Amino acid sequence: MTKSSGRLITFEGGEGVGKSTQIHRLADVLRRRGHDVLVTREPGGSLGAEAVRHVLLSGAAEEFGVRMEAMLFAAARSDHVEEVIRPAVGEGTIVLCDRFMDSSRVYQGVTGNLEPQFIRNLERIAINGMVPDLTLVLDLPADAGLRRAREREGKGAAPDRFEKEELSTHEKRREAFIELTQKEPDRCKLIDAGRSPDAVALAILAAVEPVLETGESGETGAPARDRKA
Ligand code: TYD
Repeated sequence: MTKSSGRLITFEGGEGVGKSTQIHRLADVLRRRGHDVLVTREPGGSLGAEAVRHVLLSGAAEEFGVRMEAMLFAAARSDHVEEVIRPAVGEGTIVLCDRFMDSSRVYQGVTGNLEPQFIRNLERIAINGMVPDLTLVLDLPADAGLRRAREREGKGAAPDRFEKEELSTHEKRREAFIELTQKEPDRCKLIDAGRSPDAVALAILAAVEPVLETGESGETGAPARDRKA
């Protein structure tokens, strides 16, 4: 097939909803269809962002407060966007990203109780116009997701900074992700992740196909790092 123009497709949701399994399945299907695909993740995905990842997930930044953590997530995102995502999309690659700006809206904004305006300002600077063409929100009851996450990590592994929070916090995040899909139904699609992996993969493909058929990426511009937000 002819080379598509690039796209940014992000995967979001709570802990243990199966994002990484589904991202790799989608990447395989798209590659078999002739697309260039890049799988990446946040926090991380670029050298600068990977350096910040450990600080965030180990909990080393927790004592400095949620504003500090939000700024570190944004700094990591900015580096990831400018060093990896924007160049790849510009070359016609379909970028599949495990978590992106909506995780900051939900984890730092909603359950971190940060002011929406603060989160919006950080987001604008971090993504610099690189709005996802599609965001797939994988949805699962919080307790089921946490169970899966613990099984995946193996018994004895310590939960990370965010996994270790209370069930009620995880439930609040689930609600916030669902709300997001209701507020931005064009960009965000809710996927029931409680079904078999095959059924989830099919639902994801059905949401992705129309996005690949439409013309250019929905990116709102900003080719250069120094563009004013
Ligand atoms: P990770 O182990 O990479 O992955 P996942 O939970 O997606 O399998 O953990 C990333 C953690 O960081 C996760 O608990 C969500 C959190 N996070 C935020 O709080 N804000 C953000 O902006 C991002 C990208 C992640």
